[in-house]
This record gives sequence, structure tokens and C-alpha cells, in this order.
Amino acid sequence: MELHVVSHPLVDHKLTVLRDKNTPSSTFRELVSEIVMLEAYEATRDLLLEDKPIETPVAPMVGKRIAPPRPMIVPILRAGLGMLDGMMKLLPTAEVGFLGMKRDEETLDIITYANRLPDDLTGRHVFLVDPMLATGGTLVAAIHYLAERGAREITCIDVLAAPEGLKRLEDEVNPDINVRVVVAAVDDHLNDKAYIVPGLGDAGDRLYGVV
Ligand code: URA
Repeated sequence: MELHVVSHPLVDHKLTVLRDKNTPSSTFRELVSEIVMLEAYEATRDLLLEDKPIETPVAPMVGKRIAPPRPMIVPILRAGLGMLDGMMKLLPTAEVGFLGMKRDEETLDIITYANRLPDDLTGRHVFLVDPMLATGGTLVAAIHYLAERGAREITCIDVLAAPEGLKRLEDEVNPDINVRVVVAAVDDHLNDKAYIVPGLGDAGDRLYGVV
């Protein structure tokens, strides 16, 4: 697993406003979208290109475009939806799949309760988006779910990560899967309720209100 922490003054500034408990939901949503665009710029650095002959108003030339197959963006429901809009602005030709995962409170297993994804992801570069990499349990399950469908290039984009979650990914993800994790910051630790500290609270609630 390769970790990339995006280091940029704009990201640091926006992240501080995002973390502030007095920031209202409307601003929070806009900031998540802006931060994910800045992260996506880094996260898409390895996309493969192909030649594309075009004519400018002045002369013919051979330009570059993203090579097929189309990249796939997969938000993990519910909080990952808050990152979809920013990702699609930067990668408008990508396809979007959806993955709903939650923990069974009795068995503690991760259950997939919703899935709208192609059965075959062979050769596709998948961008898995979820704002908070906390325990890492959901992300490990999501990565293996995508890998079972043939995905081998998976880039996870999260706003914040906890060291505990990153370690879990390192320990539990099958090393044959090429996983990159792009985050805006790695925080200090998880508390006893599995919240990231200092974090930003419950990302889903701050995006969409408490359900
Ligand atoms: N999910 C959140 O939304 N916040 C956390 O701090 C941890 C998990």
C-alpha cells in the first residue's frame, strides 16, 4: 500500500474550516467537494494516456487523452456521496458505481447492503471514495469486494485517516492488489467510539444531517 498525504496550503486552510464544529452543513459540503478536487489532482497522476490526433485552429497535432477503459469512481454510501461531485468535475468521463456497506452490530462483520457495480472490473482503475478512514474495516472489505470483480488498481481517496486504519489496510489487504491511499491529513488516533481525533466529527451527519 502506498500512502500519499496531499500537502498544499489550500488543502490545509480548507481542512481547518471543515474541522471547525461551527462550520454549517452547506459550507461543509462545498469544502469537501473542493478538497476532493485537490486530492483527485494528485490521485489521478498515474492514469494512463493515449495519443489523440486533433486539429487546432492553427495546425494538426497529436494530443493526449485518458486511455480506455474508463476509470470508475465508487463512493461508499453514505458519506462517500459527498465526494462524488468533486470527483466527477475532475473526471467527467469516469463511470460511477455505488457501494453501501455497514457493520453488523452483533457479529461486527461488514455487510454489503447496496451495490451498483459492473460484475467485471478487470483493467479498470477504481477510485474508492469515503471521507473518513477510521478503523479501516469498511475500506478493507470494499477493496476486497472490488478485487473479487477483477480490479487490481485501486486508489482510495479519503479526507482524513487514522494511523490505526492505515495499519489495518497495510496488514489485511492482499498485497497483489495495487492500493494507493490519498488523504488530506493523517490525524492522531481513534477514540473509544472509533472517531478520528481531532477529526471533524461524523462526516455523514455533517454533510447530510443526523438520520
Ligand atoms: N466516521 C466519521 O464520520 N467520523 C469519524 O471520526 C470516524 C468515522
